[in-house]
Amino acid sequence: MEIVIKETYEEMSQLAAQLIAEIIRRKPRAVIGLATGSTPLGTYRELIRIHKDEGLDFSQVVSFNLDEYVGLPNDNEQSYHYFMWENLFKHINIVPANVHIPDGVAAELKEACDNYEIEIDDHGGIDVQLLGIGRNGHIAFNEPGSSLGSRTKIKTLTEKTRQDNARFFDSIDEVPKYCVTMGIGTILEARKLVLLANGENKAEAIQAALEGPITVSVPASAVQFHPDVTVIMDKAAASKLTRQYHTEPSHLNRQ
Ligand code: GLP
Repeated sequence: MEIVIKETYEEMSQLAAQLIAEIIRRKPRAVIGLATGSTPLGTYRELIRIHKDEGLDFSQVVSFNLDEYVGLPNDNEQSYHYFMWENLFKHINIVPANVHIPDGVAAELKEACDNYEIEIDDHGGIDVQLLGIGRNGHIAFNEPGSSLGSRTKIKTLTEKTRQDNARFFDSIDEVPKYCVTMGIGTILEARKLVLLANGENKAEAIQAALEGPITVSVPASAVQFHPDVTVIMDKAAASKLTRQYHTEPSHLNRQ
């Protein structure tokens, strides 16, 4: 596991975008796994900038998002569909048919989850999966207690996550109680993971995930199983780590 600590959120975001851009340049048909939440917003801004200023081409890129709320139509401003189009897709040249986001309003949710797994497989698997982390250590919407081998499925959101995400809604009552999320097993099959964290309120979850035991109580700790993980964070998120880490990923040093 490669752990990189940057001074600021902007530097963290630039590095994450650079890693993803490099993968797309090497493999124009890259399959990229994307995340929502406030953490990756800077990365998306930077990817948009690289697309506009440096011509990064998304025309063959395929994307799979981690999760979606159950019951919010795609045009609802709080849906992850809306979030992704607003904050990334509409600013780049990705082909809409290549965008995949779990369907939280499917008539047959369970079947839609199974099909999501099949679609990922049909595209040859995910080359790089971007991840954030919840304050309770969740990844995607895999809340504490989620099986480490789980696949795309319907989950109940914890009160803590609903409260954390209430800031995006008018009131907590509007935050959906259920979601569809890639499972931890699905996430671990991506060829590379890039986990991002910023801010002091993530410091405890990051310490537990990276330095603690692998446990269902901290779903993000499952990344310790993965052979190719880059964790990029700002100083505040890293403030509770006990070991010494780097400021640059080693493959960039080798260039
Ligand atoms: C949400 C998302 C996660 C995200 C996490 C952290 O619930 N489902 O994918 O990583 O919460 O969100 P934020 O980046 O806003 O702190």
